[in-house]
Amino acid sequence: MLGSLVLLCFGFSLLFFLFRTRRPKNFPPGPLPVPIFGNLLQLNLRNPIEDLEKLSEHYGKIYSIYIGNKPAVVLNGLHAMKEALVTQSVEFAGRPQDLMVNHISGSKGVILADYGPSWRKHRRFALMSLRNFGLGTRSMEERILGETLYISLCLERSVGKSMDPQCLFYNAACNIICSIIYGSRYEYENEYFQAMITTMEENSKMANGPWAMIYDAVPLFRNLPLPFQRGFQGYSSVREHILGIVAQHEKTWVAKETRHLIDCYLNEMEKQGDSDICFDKSQMVVLLMDLLFAGSDTTSNTLRTALLYVMTHPHVQERCQKEIDEVLGEKEQASFEDRHMMPYTQAMIHEAQRVADTVPLGVFHATTKDTRLMGYDIPKGTLIIPNLSSVLNEESQWKFPHDFNPSNFLNDQGEFVKPEAFMPFSAGRRACLGEGLARMELFLILVTLLRRFKFVWPEDAGVPDYTPVFGITQAPKPYRLGVRLREKPGE
Ligand code: HEM
Repeated sequence: MLGSLVLLCFGFSLLFFLFRTRRPKNFPPGPLPVPIFGNLLQLNLRNPIEDLEKLSEHYGKIYSIYIGNKPAVVLNGLHAMKEALVTQSVEFAGRPQDLMVNHISGSKGVILADYGPSWRKHRRFALMSLRNFGLGTRSMEERILGETLYISLCLERSVGKSMDPQCLFYNAACNIICSIIYGSRYEYENEYFQAMITTMEENSKMANGPWAMIYDAVPLFRNLPLPFQRGFQGYSSVREHILGIVAQHEKTWVAKETRHLIDCYLNEMEKQGDSDICFDKSQMVVLLMDLLFAGSDTTSNTLRTALLYVMTHPHVQERCQKEIDEVLGEKEQASFEDRHMMPYTQAMIHEAQRVADTVPLGVFHATTKDTRLMGYDIPKGTLIIPNLSSVLNEESQWKFPHDFNPSNFLNDQGEFVKPEAFMPFSAGRRACLGEGLARMELFLILVTLLRRFKFVWPEDAGVPDYTPVFGITQAPKPYRLGVRLREKPGE
């Protein structure tokens, strides 16, 4: 009797759930969800890319999945991505507001803020500050080249040997952001710096990992002492530290002076009227963390991927080095302008970005109003997953979609060309605001290092494994970089 009652209740709950999770009318199609988890159990949560690809083969370039009882639309391929993020950029410029990452950051700052006045003002402020601190000018180049000197010094200590480049490149990318926001860099061994980096790395892994998915899918679990609580603790410890740094800079702040981004932010706080307060300290801290987080992992993972590929493709490395030697000649340092004379090196760097596929599922968007996309109706507030990986690997868009081949970015005359499907920074209103800085960093760091060093795959390292480690930012598997000094040309 009791058994039948339980079965009956279960049946009713199931029916209720199925009824509740029925896709809205004319919504993109997709697999049938199961109670509580939606479609999560049908995806490999450690790396869902292949499963998402299979769903696209079955349902088309736009389809939907359920994360718990929340419907999400997945965009695949260049055409769908452009239609949504570029043609309908306002409609698709929102951010979902009920995910673990929102609860951690309070949806302040830029990355996770919803489309609206606060996001717009903070985005404009961040872009303007990057320009004020020299983006597009020699002074930003000097900042980057200065940090590259420290990278070179570390690599020199490994000449004739091999080293794990993971920390080195993370430290360097993070320091470039620190120099913009705090006006100073950290020694790589600095204890606080290392603690901050470890926490940021852990949070990044957590943010796209299985525990975050469970947090997002099953609100009932959110208060339980499960591993996702570590994400909250880590974030608040970095936050406390940054608040401490802000307090130090406040003591020496002189209105209208602009030593670094914190000064600029304090000036904005002073300038704004009482009626529309948008810049405040809690926003500032999240913005600083946004820039540190978004600017470190992405750039350093791309650099490590580039070195992995050039090290294991010696003919590509040698061709870049020949070009770099010819263009730079006796010049002491590279400058970003030199890229126009280095089509092959440019092509190699872009190809490295394509295969690095650094932010494979972008940052999730949300629709800002009811809208229609490629014949489907998508209600306001729907979660949108831009599968950038599907564009960077789309067979119809690339000459060599499955290989590492700089020819993907060269025309028949050997000139550098950038196909439309090159979208590692996403596109539209929410496209990466650090793109200019990242491109400058990748070029100056790689050119400087390839000019001075030869990178070799260590003899005892077995066969290179290019399979990336999935995450909100994707990284190459740990590897060892064999370092040799190059002979100067002509010696
Ligand atoms: C190779 C390096 C980088 C890659 C591949 C990359 C990629 C991306 C992607 C895919 C997005 C999501 C765009 C969207 O929502 O559609 C993004 C957003 C963002 N990135 Fe980057 N990024 C890189 C470097 C940087 C750097 C150096 C900074 C810091 C200066 C930065 C700051 C940001 C910010 C603040 C956002 C949020 C923009 C918004 O929501 O309006 N990124 N990035």
